[in-house]
Amino acid sequence: MIHAPISPAEILGAPLELPCGLRLKNRLIKSPMSDSLGDGAGQPTAAQTRLYERWAEGGTALSLIGEVQISPDGPESPGNLVLAPGGAEGPWRALATRGAAQGAQIWPQLGHGGALSYRALSHPRGPSPLTLDGQPVREMTQAEIAALPAAYAAAALRAKLLGFRGAQIHAGHGFLLSQFLSPFFNHRSDGYGDSHAGRFRLIGEIISATRQAVGPGFALGIRINATDQLAGGVREADARETLRLLAGTSIDLIDISGGSYVPGAAASSDGTAREGAYFATVAKAAKELTRIPIMLTGGLKTRAQAAGLLRDGGADAIGLARALVLDPDLPRKWVSSAGGDPAFPRFETAPPGGITAWYTTRLAALAKEEEGTYELDLTEALAAVASRDAARVPQWHARFGPPR
Ligand SMILES: Cc1cc2nc3c(=O)[nH]c(=O)nc-3n(C[C@H](O)[C@H](O)[C@H](O)COP(=O)(O)O)c2cc1C
Repeated sequence: MIHAPISPAEILGAPLELPCGLRLKNRLIKSPMSDSLGDGAGQPTAAQTRLYERWAEGGTALSLIGEVQISPDGPESPGNLVLAPGGAEGPWRALATRGAAQGAQIWPQLGHGGALSYRALSHPRGPSPLTLDGQPVREMTQAEIAALPAAYAAAALRAKLLGFRGAQIHAGHGFLLSQFLSPFFNHRSDGYGDSHAGRFRLIGEIISATRQAVGPGFALGIRINATDQLAGGVREADARETLRLLAGTSIDLIDISGGSYVPGAAASSDGTAREGAYFATVAKAAKELTRIPIMLTGGLKTRAQAAGLLRDGGADAIGLARALVLDPDLPRKWVSSAGGDPAFPRFETAPPGGITAWYTTRLAALAKEEEGTYELDLTEALAAVASRDAARVPQWHARFGPPR
């Protein structure tokens, strides 16, 4: 009997069952993006909910909401959502429900900026003292570290009670947990640094505490860096060690990303030069190191690339960020005979952070269904992001008080 080759649409359209029992309806995941569409006091807005509903209507199996803070202590931006007790539940429930239209999943990405926290809202602290952009970062005390597993667990439990069926722990891109994993940031000698096992220890404790809080049926993902793309930071060999340690945990989905938002380092949302999947080598290695499903994110632009990676066993699911800003309906097209790849803009010269800012402002246009008239250049986008963030600082302080 001759079998017809499996088509890209069939490969990408196949469901994926996670170890916790949750099923993703296809292999295409909206990668976490800090949309900065919160109300400035950590709560979802109607426009933000519409954005996630659009991705669900566009056929995405799972949307990860970028940078949802576990507490107001270390936000990445004043537009972040915060899973803090006390806010009205209605907007969260609307986001969890409408973002899950048509059988999609929607999970918050549990974040803490650590050394990279937004300065007007926090006193940045990380695993070890540091100077960043001429500003001091304080070392976390042992008591502060000891409080983190319970804080992540409480945030995940709150997400569950608000109607989400999973969450992703953010341990990538140079934010707090990525700092603990990274020899660039972590010089501790108290059991939370020193060796790779020491640098991983906090993450292991967070996974255990969170799983205990949310129970077995809730999906727990994690994002890690394949490489920090930073001298002295995580290299691919370190990432393989992390994968070996994650293999023994109750994580349901490992998202392989990379890069860092440390000033002067390469962030993968700002990348233009490299063609193809940025971190495919580590994802492929991960498939041999663990049976936990692997999601690969970064640099994917075409259906042929995405389907090829899955066909060759290089990943179980594909994370897409910028492609889904350009076309929120892409998953529906890619799992059907329609196909079609997004037209990526070409930027001749890009100031640092300019490309990410361009996509950030385009997210706001998508949320308002105004992408047809969106036309900022990179410098205008950078200015728009900075002024929107600054305008929200008083709202943040009104709810959460002065920087802590
Ligand atoms: C506007 C924007 C915001 C982002 N915010 C986050 C974030 O909050 N959390 C995160 O883990 N990654 C974030 N990223 C990185 C993406 O999730 C993704 O890893 C990166 O853009 C590479 O994937 P791509 O080539 O499909 O865009 C962001 C990317 C963009 C473009």
